[in-house]
Amino acid sequence: MKKVLFVIGSLRKQSFNRQVSEYVKVLLGDKAEITELEYADLPLVNQDIEFPTPNSLLRVRKDVLGADLIWVFAPEYNASYPAAIKNLFDWLSRPMTAEPNSATAIKGKKVALTGIGGSNQTNGCREKLTALLNFIGAVVMENQVGLAVNAEAWTSNKVVLTDEQKAMLRKQAEDMLAFVG
Ligand SMILES: Cc1cc2nc3c(=O)[nH]c(=O)nc-3n(C[C@H](O)[C@H](O)[C@H](O)COP(=O)(O)O)c2cc1C
Repeated sequence: MKKVLFVIGSLRKQSFNRQVSEYVKVLLGDKAEITELEYADLPLVNQDIEFPTPNSLLRVRKDVLGADLIWVFAPEYNASYPAAIKNLFDWLSRPMTAEPNSATAIKGKKVALTGIGGSNQTNGCREKLTALLNFIGAVVMENQVGLAVNAEAWTSNKVVLTDEQKAMLRKQAEDMLAFVG
């Protein structure tokens, strides 16, 4: 069974994006093995602490290397992606050893992108995140899903997906299974 690593781009407990990821997890059922990447304990990127590699980064790299695909669920912050995601992918873009031309954990890794937020449907986030991921050698799936959250969620913190949004996510999950091979 293929291993899919979920990356939730929001650190808040009642995250809309986490709720969408939970919906997708149910959709996938037993068609993929899903785990969530723990990355909130990564230090901010700093070349002074790159070697010896921090333990949190060793763990994150191991999980990424072991995954067949990374599925990012990320909110849009100021028409871009959150700083936590930038920090994660900047670390993953770094060589794994101090040897010249050492490999990175992200190069060649397949990635799917989904986001839920305001009326911009996370377009600014996914556009810029796609550019970053391409730059560091990841392979981003073409079918990305961007959703505008139901108006009540801003106060209730409860995401209610429309039938159309559910269908988009179902199609994306099918496409992801084909993409991961
Ligand atoms: C710093 C910051 C900037 C934001 N900028 C945008 C934005 O540009 N577009 C948007 O749709 N929502 C924006 N939002 C609102 C988020 O979409 C909203 O907080 C959403 O709940 C975040 O996703 P989450 O529920 O998964 O944490 C912003 C929120 C924060 C904290």
